[in-house]
Amino acid sequence: MTLTATTNILITGGAGFIGSRLIRALLAANPECRIWILDNLHPQVHGQNAVPPCFDDQVTFLRGDMGDARAVYDAVARSLPRLVFHLAAETGTGQSYDEPTRYCLANVIGTTHLIEALRKTGSTERVVLASSRAVYGEGAYIDATGRHCAGLPRDAAAMSAGDFEVPLPAGCVGPGHPAPSNPALPPAPASVYASTKLMQEYLLTQAGEGAGWRATILRFQNVYGPGQSLRNPYTGVLSIFAQQLLEGKDLAIFEDGQIARDFVYVDDVVEALVRAGERQLPHGTTIDIGMGEAVTIEEAARTLMQALGRNENSYAVTGAFRVGDIRHACADISVAHELLGWAPQVSVDEGLGALACWARREFGVTQSERGH
Ligand SMILES: NC(=O)c1ccc[n+]([C@@H]2O[C@H](COP(=O)([O-])OP(=O)(O)OC[C@H]3O[C@@H](n4cnc5c(N)ncnc54)[C@H](O)[C@@H]3O)[C@@H](O)[C@H]2O)c1
Repeated sequence: MTLTATTNILITGGAGFIGSRLIRALLAANPECRIWILDNLHPQVHGQNAVPPCFDDQVTFLRGDMGDARAVYDAVARSLPRLVFHLAAETGTGQSYDEPTRYCLANVIGTTHLIEALRKTGSTERVVLASSRAVYGEGAYIDATGRHCAGLPRDAAAMSAGDFEVPLPAGCVGPGHPAPSNPALPPAPASVYASTKLMQEYLLTQAGEGAGWRATILRFQNVYGPGQSLRNPYTGVLSIFAQQLLEGKDLAIFEDGQIARDFVYVDDVVEALVRAGERQLPHGTTIDIGMGEAVTIEEAARTLMQALGRNENSYAVTGAFRVGDIRHACADISVAHELLGWAPQVSVDEGLGALACWARREFGVTQSERGH
């Protein structure tokens, strides 16, 4: 779909980290397009008494909750979108164990509300879902004989004894090496959050059959960069680290420091979203979005310390662990390249520099607001 002045776009979760940068990118590419945001300004993300973000005149902010069928229907009926980006979600992996109902209400029932509204109004041609690599669980491994397999969930007793490695299925020969994940790998969500993201994928794909719109699913790795909530303690390990370092604290790094993540810069993710909105891809197309390389948490933390002017040893590797955290994440981005003509442009060093610069400014603002 070519985005034009007459393309109405609805972005659920449009006030969030990725959504707000997506809006700026869409307006920069097409200053005339009309955008509606449906967002509940979640206090965990935006703080208490948050006010709607300011955008240009052609952006309409609708405050509403995905769990409220009427609010979702009103947003769809008012915007009559040709294109929907579905980003609104509860996003904390650890928190999702404690509050599964809340996570299912926002992420799963929120998605069924959206589907019912889209089916009633019939204006939509494409829905792009912000899904997550979390649906893979421990992800892809290659065993000692070169065979591909899916890593199994880790055992809390083994981790308590300091064994953090990922077990392989019966018949595979250890030790295994992590490999990039792609949609050929069967999903194996390892948390309630991950299950809700997989359910969003299934629901949008199944309910879209014969409904007139097509779904494109993007599975993001760890997105980071300026604008990620510094106050939400449940998501965004790098923004949590940035906040702690700016407060003068040392970091506590879990396990043996060798947990690895594929950190992808927010503007690269936004570019992938825009392309997914424009391309006429078959219904249910699923695409991994990441840097295509993994960095250990210890390495990323050290780079961030440097960027924030802190001593590079301002951390301790604690051996503590969280059930549901996976060991190693990395995307196979060949499909993104092939179908979207997309490749990440921002290196982790560059991206962490931008995050540090923004976090310093934000931290200064917050401190002065508190009268420090
Ligand atoms: N940031 C990442 O690393 C990452 C990785 C994988 C997938 N994702 C997915 O990308 C999407 C956007 O993530 P983000 O990092 O921008 O998160 P975010 O928390 O910054 O943004 C989410 C937005 O959704 C809103 N929201 C939350 N619950 C809502 C509800 N019930 N009703 C209406 N609005 C609600 C929040 O107020 C917020 O503005 C999410 O679907 C998330 O699962 C993000």
